[in-house]
Amino acid sequence: MIERRRSGIHGWGVYATRAISKNTRIIDYAGEKISNRESLKRERTYLRRGHIWCFKLNSRWVRDAAVGGNVARFINHSCTPNCYTQIVGDTIWIRASRNIRKGEELTYDYMTDGEGHIACKCSPNCRTMI
Ligand SMILES: C[S@@+](CC[C@H](N)C(=O)[O-])C[C@H]1O[C@@H](n2cnc3c(N)ncnc32)[C@H](O)[C@@H]1O
Ligand SMILES: [Zn+2]
Repeated sequence: MIERRRSGIHGWGVYATRAISKNTRIIDYAGEKISNRESLKRERTYLRRGHIWCFKLNSRWVRDAAVGGNVARFINHSCTPNCYTQIVGDTIWIRASRNIRKGEELTYDYMTDGEGHIACKCSPNCRTMI
């Protein structure tokens, strides 16, 4: 249903290899389950290289896709995304927020509130920090 390709937004991205209907559970965001405290340490190291790999499960736990991650870790952020995330227990599902055409890049909103200090390139005139 999806594959990794070079992205117009940044580096690698993930693309639909067939049409995906709204609300489909596309993939889970895999990664080592670590404590929030451990993730703060790792995130600092990752961010020095401009990378965001840690995804918050809840106030105590985080998934670090740099360790044991799958292709979901290459899904880029967009401020007008075609996917959303849904946390069910320990699983972070990436689901289609609308019908997605074959060949479209998958994106979701990282909701980092500018913590990463990375200028968003989801569109030429985007001024958001992710
Ligand atoms: C989970 S990775 C996504 C895969 C990434 N494109 C790669 O090649 O490794 C997250 C990183 O991708 C980049 N990224 C994702 N969405 C972006 C966006 N909208 N604008 C700029 N950089 C973005 C940032 O460097 C971020 O730290
Ligand atoms: Zn943007």
